[in-house]
Amino acid sequence: MTKPVRLALLGCGTVGSEVVRLLHEQAADLTARIGAPLEIAGIAVRRQGRNRGDLPVDPAVFTTDALGLVKRDDVDVVVEMVGGIEPARTWLVEALRAGKSVVTANKALLAEDGGSLHDAAAESGADLYYEASVAGAIPLLRPLRESLQGDKITRVTGIVNGTTNFILSAMDATGAGFAEALDEATELGYAEADPTADVEGFDAAAKAAILASLAFHTRVSAADVYREGITEVTAADVASANAMGCTIKLLCIASRGPDSTGAESIGVRVYPAMIPRSHPLASVGDAFNAVFVEAVSAGQLMFYGRGAGGAPTASAVLGDVVAVSRNRLAGVRTPSESAYAALPIRPMGEAVTRYHISLDVADRAGVLATVAGVFARHEVSIATVRQASASTGGNTGSTATVGRGGDAILVIVTHAAPDAALAATVEELRGLDIVRSIASVLRVEGGV
Ligand SMILES: NC(=O)c1ccc[n+]([C@@H]2O[C@H](COP(=O)([O-])OP(=O)(O)OC[C@H]3O[C@@H](n4cnc5c(N)ncnc54)[C@H](OP(=O)(O)O)[C@@H]3O)[C@@H](O)[C@H]2O)c1
Repeated sequence: MTKPVRLALLGCGTVGSEVVRLLHEQAADLTARIGAPLEIAGIAVRRQGRNRGDLPVDPAVFTTDALGLVKRDDVDVVVEMVGGIEPARTWLVEALRAGKSVVTANKALLAEDGGSLHDAAAESGADLYYEASVAGAIPLLRPLRESLQGDKITRVTGIVNGTTNFILSAMDATGAGFAEALDEATELGYAEADPTADVEGFDAAAKAAILASLAFHTRVSAADVYREGITEVTAADVASANAMGCTIKLLCIASRGPDSTGAESIGVRVYPAMIPRSHPLASVGDAFNAVFVEAVSAGQLMFYGRGAGGAPTASAVLGDVVAVSRNRLAGVRTPSESAYAALPIRPMGEAVTRYHISLDVADRAGVLATVAGVFARHEVSIATVRQASASTGGNTGSTATVGRGGDAILVIVTHAAPDAALAATVEELRGLDIVRSIASVLRVEGGV
């Protein structure tokens, strides 16, 4: 019998406990697929005495000394399912420097300081795999890292946060406001007690950084990602999107192309945007994730599935455990990154996008011409203008209706323009006395 591959599991919560369960239930198949059995050398947790139900593992394997476990000579593979920057970074750098293979689900660490891990892996020739860190169960990083290496990826557009997708889908289906939809997500277990990382877009930004790094062979960190969350999205925005045949999604977008000087660069951003209902990402509902990849030769590819949850995430973790174990047995490693392109990051102001702007204006002669003049001054071309009822927030029709105090709502959709020009246009509109308020500003993606 071939010598077992010995695993140090760090963390035994939502993901870790499912990994333990699957290691037990699928032991025979995993052994056959790898060519050696997998053995749990130890499991590091925070609370040793915590009741872990009927987990099929010897209680003696639990320890609170994660670093001690990582350093043990009888450990071949370290599987990190704790999260956060420290002490996870110290554990993983230690493991990689010692030549141990690492599998991690930790998007926050990879996005903040993936460079430290990649460098440590490259120096010692150890494997570093992290499929579960983006879009849970969906095989996505392996296709970017391996299958598409013969192609040139131009754009990655994704729905990579299940909580916000659940909230926006609920708002779209029921007309609920953000707070009401968040409450529902919390009740159903889709949102955490503190939902900040999800609703403010931090989680999606971390994933965007990981995707952009792999897609464009460039080190991208979370700090390079332009980010807006969904807390400002209103029921009126959703209704307005509906009126245009669109829905609103929190998108992560990573694209390559020329910057203002013509040099090749990449832009990485996360924000809520309107997309047409005909776009493949529009039908991704509930807490599902999907990522749309565009490549020069392959064309358009779509990856879809469960982006979170214990069992789906454990599936991705175990796939990585099998891969690194096979590599150990074969005495090889898969390079974890190629950052040779080192492309510069394009500032958000240079991102070419479209805006949907809803203005509450005085309903009198000359207003439209004044508003149009502001757009023209910033070289932003208007695609459509719709005037609607002020009393309904601008979402019920196309005929001019005078609202309270002689107001009207103008709904303007622009053609593509640099984000800086669009932002400057909105700023100038805000200062006009004929503009009572700007009800909503949303970007439009996907060719409406
Ligand atoms: N949950 C998902 O759906 C999902 C999806 C994709 C990726 N991920 C990623 O997977 C990782 C784990 O997520 P999770 O949802 O499983 O988290 P979780 O349920 O909160 O579990 C965290 C585990 O880490 C242990 N832990 C915490 N601090 C520790 C320390 N200082 N030393 C040793 N152990 C410590 C905890 O011990 P106790 O059990 O004793 O408290 C617990 O077992 C995170 O990086 C997360 O971003 C999660």
